[in-house]
Amino acid sequence: MPEPADRLKHLPPYVFTSIAKQIQKLKAQGHDIIRLDIGSPDGAPPLAVIETVQRSIALPDNHGYTSYNGTPAFRRAVAGFYQSRFGVTLNPDTQVLPLIGSKEGLVNLCLAYLNPGDMVLVPDIGYPAYARGILLAGAEICWLPLRENNGFLPDLTSIPTDVAQRARMLWLNYPNNPTGAVARLDFFEQAVEFCRAHDILLLSDNPYFEITFDGEQAVSALQPSLADSCAIEMMSFSKTYNMGGWRLGAAVGNEEILRILLQMKSNIDTGHFLPIYEAGIAALEETSADWGAQRNQVYQRRRDLMLATLPDAGLDPIPPKGAIYIWARVHNGDGATYAHDALEQAHVSLTPGDAFGPGGTQYVRISLCTPDEQMQLALERLKRWHSQNSR
Ligand SMILES: Cc1ncc(COP(=O)(O)O)c(C=O)c1O
Repeated sequence: MPEPADRLKHLPPYVFTSIAKQIQKLKAQGHDIIRLDIGSPDGAPPLAVIETVQRSIALPDNHGYTSYNGTPAFRRAVAGFYQSRFGVTLNPDTQVLPLIGSKEGLVNLCLAYLNPGDMVLVPDIGYPAYARGILLAGAEICWLPLRENNGFLPDLTSIPTDVAQRARMLWLNYPNNPTGAVARLDFFEQAVEFCRAHDILLLSDNPYFEITFDGEQAVSALQPSLADSCAIEMMSFSKTYNMGGWRLGAAVGNEEILRILLQMKSNIDTGHFLPIYEAGIAALEETSADWGAQRNQVYQRRRDLMLATLPDAGLDPIPPKGAIYIWARVHNGDGATYAHDALEQAHVSLTPGDAFGPGGTQYVRISLCTPDEQMQLALERLKRWHSQNSR
C-alpha cells in the first residue's frame, strides 16, 4: 500500500476515535461501558425541528444540491437570532456562512489562512480541533495558558510583542470546553483591541452560548464595537438544540474572512440538504425560552450531583458556569492513567485532560450528557473502584 501523506504522519488519531476503539474492544469482551467522555447531548431537539424536517423531506423538490452559502432564509434566520440575542447586526448575504458543524469551519479556516511556519495563539487547555487544524496546515502553535486564578482566560498582556506580531490567529471559546468558564464583554473588548493592534484574526468558537448556570449569561465576541473588523464567531446547533448529528452551524462576522472560508469550503464540500436548513430556521425561530431553561436545569442538576460525588472518586472538580462538562483534577495528578484505568477497571469512559493541551495532564473531563440513571451508576462505579484502589 502507498504511504499516507506526510501531513497525516504528524497528526495523532483524534481523541474520541481512540476512546471509541477502546470502548468497542471492551464491549466485545462483554463489558457494559458508560460513556462520560464525549459531549453529545442526550436530549431530543425541539419538536418544531423534527416536524419541519418531516414536512420538508416529503417534498419532491427539496432533494437537489443547495447553494454553497446556504439558503437566504437560513442566513436571515441566523442574522435575526444574532440581532435579538446579542444586539449584533449582520448582513445576511455577506456575514453569515453555514458550516457542517463548527469543527469543519475551524479546521477549514486554518487551511485557508495558514502557511507552514505561521504562528497561532491557542488556549492551553482547549477544544482539540484547533491544534489539529493548525498541524494540518503545517503552522505552529503558541499555547496560551488558561489558569483558574485568571478565570480560565488567557492573559493577553503577557504575550511577548514579537509573538503577537508573528501570530495570525487567536482562538477563543467561552463558555469554555473543558473548564466551563464564561467570559464577560470586557474580555472580548480587550481581545478585539489586541487583535486589531497586531493584525490577528480573532476566532471565537461559541457552540455553548445558550448553556450557562446559576444565572450566568454568555456574550458574543462580535458585541464589542469594531469586532467585525477582525473577528468571526462560529455558532452551532449541536449543543444548543441537541442536534449534534445534524452537522449544522454557521460562521458569522467579518465579511472578508467569510469570503475566504467560502472559497476554501466550496472546493471541498457542498451546501446542506434543504430540510436541514429549514429545521435550523425552526430551531432558531421557534424554540421557546422555556425549552432552553429546562435543558439547562437538567445539566445543572447533573453538574451538582457530580460536584458532590466526584471528590469520593479521587477527583477535585471545578464548578463550571457553562457548557456541558466538569473539569476535575485527579488527586494524584495523573489524568491519563486515571482515565485509562477508569475505563478498563470501572468501565466508565472519561476524557483524559492531556487531550486538551499540555496544561491538562493532571485532569480529566467528564461530560454531563449522560441520562441521570446511567450517570448515577457511573458515579457509583467510580467511587467503588477508587475506594478499592486506595485501600
Ligand atoms: C468548543 C467546541 N467547539 C466546537 C465543537 C464542535 O461542534 P460541532 O458539532 O458544531 O462541530 C465542540 C464539540 O464538542 C466544542 O466543544
